Amino acid sequence: MRPQTIQLRPESGQRSVAMRFGKCALFVIGSSVPASCAGVQSALAPAGMEAEQVATLFWVMTAGGALIWALVVLLSLYASRWKRGPVSEQAAGRLILWAGVAFPVSVLAALLSYALWLMPSLRPFADDGDASMRVEVVGGQFWWHVVYRREGQPPVVSANEIRLPVGERVEFSLTSRDMIHSFWIPSLGGKTDLIPGRTNRLSLLATKAGTYRGQCAEFCGTSHALMAFPAIAMEPDDFDAWLEARRSPSAGLDAGREGRAIFLREDCGDCHRVYGTAANGTSGPDLSHVGSRLTIGAGLMENETGALARFIAHSGSVKAGSLMPAYLRLSEDELDAIAIWLKGLE
Ligand code: CUA
Repeated sequence: MRPQTIQLRPESGQRSVAMRFGKCALFVIGSSVPASCAGVQSALAPAGMEAEQVATLFWVMTAGGALIWALVVLLSLYASRWKRGPVSEQAAGRLILWAGVAFPVSVLAALLSYALWLMPSLRPFADDGDASMRVEVVGGQFWWHVVYRREGQPPVVSANEIRLPVGERVEFSLTSRDMIHSFWIPSLGGKTDLIPGRTNRLSLLATKAGTYRGQCAEFCGTSHALMAFPAIAMEPDDFDAWLEARRSPSAGLDAGREGRAIFLREDCGDCHRVYGTAANGTSGPDLSHVGSRLTIGAGLMENETGALARFIAHSGSVKAGSLMPAYLRLSEDELDAIAIWLKGLE
């Protein structure tokens, strides 16, 4: 009978599994980091001042963590491979004092001080006198009510899309009409909760024009994952023109009158507002200029007549938990007519 041995090193088969796992981990890290760094919804592809600071903080913390990890690996290699003899009690005491107390305390204090030093610049407010526009956002089940307020100008009501001018500080006031949601445009800045009965504030300054993606970042029910919105940073002149156009009823109001008649007949106006018509509801998204939005259903589908008709007929299955009733009783022609009229509201 062969004596039993305690195995200290993996045999070749086990080593290859370990090596394969290591290679796989490296591949996953190597391939997923660049992929997650890019794109329209990435905190690591900043297009705003606040997002740049968040990204810098992330990279400083990551580099700090990686250095400490490498140091610990080196120390354990040293202890397990090269310095295998006993250590004097005095040396062990020194090691605990320096590596176990002094080092973590000073590193954590340095990283904490850096993060605290960044914080005031992440939260500048209109009271400081540098924001000339306020955007009110109210979270609902599962959509966003949006009101743009510029000093001395009438407000503009919209929904499920955020637009802001590049190079201008915008203050957001955030609240909710039902449960807790969270407003997050990773490319532009950090997230802030929308809490019923309370108004939270967030300030963003976009530095790069483009179309980004915002997402509700707090679980709020069945369609939480479908509660998104496009966030569009525009050149200041384009933004002003866009906002000004929304101060009047849509030019497409009188085109496709058949759809408009069905929309009003079906009492869609009890929940939705269409500026310039009798539709004046506030419990659903404002549809005054819905035709010019990039998406419908709060970032759910591309804004096309087919998708609009589908949403009207099957709201509950397209977006589970949506408060809008499904209009299955409407014929396909009627659905198309409403969708064509809405799409024309640019
Ligand atoms: Cu709203 Cu999650």
